Amino acid sequence: MGSRLQCPRCSSTFPLESFRSTCTCGSLLDVRHDPPPVPAQKLAEIFGARLRPPSAANDPFPGVWRFRELILPEAPDPALSLREGNTPLFRHPAISHFAGVEELWLKHEGMNPTGSFKDRGMTVAVGVARRLGYRALLCASTGNTAASLAAYGALGGLPVLVLAPQGKVALGKMIQTLAFGAFIVEITGDFDEALRLAMRLADDHRIALLNSVNPFRIEGQKTAAFEIAEGFGWDVPDWVVLPAGNLGNISAYGKAFEELQSWGFTKRMPRLAAIQAEGANPFYRSFQLGFAQRVEVKAETIATAIRIGSPASFERAVRAVRSSEGVVEQVTDVEILEAKGAIDACGLGCEPASAAALAGVRKLRSRGIIGPKQRVVAVLTGNLLKDPDAVLRRAQDLDNRTTLPASEVDLRKLVERVLQRER
Ligand code: F0G
Repeated sequence: MGSRLQCPRCSSTFPLESFRSTCTCGSLLDVRHDPPPVPAQKLAEIFGARLRPPSAANDPFPGVWRFRELILPEAPDPALSLREGNTPLFRHPAISHFAGVEELWLKHEGMNPTGSFKDRGMTVAVGVARRLGYRALLCASTGNTAASLAAYGALGGLPVLVLAPQGKVALGKMIQTLAFGAFIVEITGDFDEALRLAMRLADDHRIALLNSVNPFRIEGQKTAAFEIAEGFGWDVPDWVVLPAGNLGNISAYGKAFEELQSWGFTKRMPRLAAIQAEGANPFYRSFQLGFAQRVEVKAETIATAIRIGSPASFERAVRAVRSSEGVVEQVTDVEILEAKGAIDACGLGCEPASAAALAGVRKLRSRGIIGPKQRVVAVLTGNLLKDPDAVLRRAQDLDNRTTLPASEVDLRKLVERVLQRER
């Protein structure tokens, strides 16, 4: 089975080993695979069997690599893996009630090793960069890419340089990045500026750029969509809803569902919904214009992960929305926090950007775009502990933190209050 890098705009091709992100014409490149030589049904069985022990213990291809035939048939052996992926789908009556959609599942990507979906892409892209002999790894990041790259760089023994917007990286992500030993530069500009700088620095051929402009990142991130289809018995839900910032992830889901259909795994595509924060909504605005033009904004939102005004994967994401008959919606910071409150209150928890997905489902339902009987998967992209400040800011409203003397009498009174609290 052959694979290559291909330009969706001018059709130029490059070998995988070129590890390029952009074509000479300026467009981002995609990895293109020939159809797998094994029939879809047989491969689906193989993917399922790889999930089960005893192969798990000494598997050279753990985590997302059980789908290797569809992401990178010539996988680095052994894979550079933290056993990412294979994240759960949850249903909870309170969440369904909140959104007004009975058949609503949450795909919790915050349960990946570094607490976000980025690990799926990093295991592939960092593994390839290492095999190709790159000496250092580079990214711009609002935080999660940084934490994930820092972890996979550490695992693979490669130094990591991160460019981040000053004061806008949530604490948990900063802590992970530092702990894993990456160099982090907080620049005075925003994420968009940091990414422009990183793309320029990447002309140094000793250092590999690991943002989602990198086509190998997209290949790894496709596996979340594969798991959703597999979870639905190799069918798809009516909708898959995800938060959108730099637009790499929605592009990965679009590519994955297109490939599953064209290779015979599924009969149709789900409709994709990209949800943006109102203060960081360039893709939403462009969608309102029928994608007739690309829009840039100066981004501001409490959901710092998606505080992005000039998304790099714009063209890929337009394809994903169009080919899936998808939509782009926006939600306010208040709506994001309400949704986060609902997710936190049922014990799952997520970071603010992830809650945008649920806020988006609720809005699309209230606007009648999602039907009450439709099957919906909302993707929670990051773990609650990523952004502790977002919780501390809310703790006062929650009224569940107090200081008391260590007196049994006082504590017994509190026990009465706790027993009365209704869920
Ligand atoms: N959700 C979370 C938690 C994220 O960290 C990101 C992106 C997104 C959603 C949006 O995904 O960019 O592919 O559209 N975080 C990047 C980072 C920008 O640097 O960690 P996207």
